[in-house]
Amino acid sequence: MPMTLPPALDLSLDLLRCPTCRTRHLRPAHGALRCPVGHAFDIARHGYAGLLTGTRATSGDDAAMVQARDRFLSTGAYSPIREAGARLAADAVSAQGTVVDVGCGTGYYLAGALDRLPGARGLGLDTSVRALRAAARAHRRAAAVAWDVFRPFPLVDGAADVVLDVFAPRNPAEFHRVLRPTGRLVVIRPTGRHLAELRGHVPAMVTVDPAKEQRLHRALNPFFEAVVTEQVEYLAVLSRPDVLDLVAMTPSARHVSRADLDEDGLLPDRVTVSVLATAYRPR
Ligand SMILES: C[S@@+](CC[C@H](N)C(=O)[O-])C[C@H]1O[C@@H](n2cnc3c(N)ncnc32)[C@H](O)[C@@H]1O
Ligand SMILES: [Zn+2]
Repeated sequence: MPMTLPPALDLSLDLLRCPTCRTRHLRPAHGALRCPVGHAFDIARHGYAGLLTGTRATSGDDAAMVQARDRFLSTGAYSPIREAGARLAADAVSAQGTVVDVGCGTGYYLAGALDRLPGARGLGLDTSVRALRAAARAHRRAAAVAWDVFRPFPLVDGAADVVLDVFAPRNPAEFHRVLRPTGRLVVIRPTGRHLAELRGHVPAMVTVDPAKEQRLHRALNPFFEAVVTEQVEYLAVLSRPDVLDLVAMTPSARHVSRADLDEDGLLPDRVTVSVLATAYRPR
């Protein structure tokens, strides 16, 4: 347990509310955050706040997936996606705003947005302990909090100028509640062409359902209106270890063994990266 509060968490304390009784003003004391009523939540040695107590979330990346994601993202192969996310976030926030990244993973996209916004602070939510360890180190101004996107967020109403969701589960009603009325939701998701070259080699990799865009629209429409959509599409040239990491970080390929793939001499050395990035305004 750290003796001092991680600086990024200190920066973000006023955004938090107690997940149990919803009272605001969580205060640090003896390696924990405490609400005025007395509920207490550990601050992990690795720097994130463990607000998710009680029942365990059913989803979240395991250690091998997080390590593969971290290695893959560090190659820069997805940096055009990070730039698109940061650009849309920066269009919506003053330099001093707050960016909340839901299903933040290693914090790669949150850090990209904060780099573009020198006075802003960030907060990443994820269920995966391994991801949170990385997210807590991703940026000096980024705090990390263990949370399940499908439960009411431990954040006060109107806490965020930007909610960022990159390849992650969504909770439109909570996104709406925690966004300021002038804020923006930025959603980045794959198109049907994303990683198409890998599908023949990795049977477990599900094809992107063509009705997915429609479902996204239907889910967000009661709460949000699209303002602008950017398509990011390019061919990424990858080394063999990069391709293996790309497969290993994909949830649908969780059960494909690296050894099986390694024997497949025909793994592609370039893949199509194809995503849509949309900024939405709250209704
Ligand atoms: C495909 S990864 C994307 C991570 C990150 N946004 C990125 O693009 O690098 C999905 C992330 O959502 C997280 N996740 C899965 N289910 C979740 C849930 N119910 N609540 C919060 N995070 C969840 C996973 O642990 C993982 O970090
Ligand atoms: Zn409480």
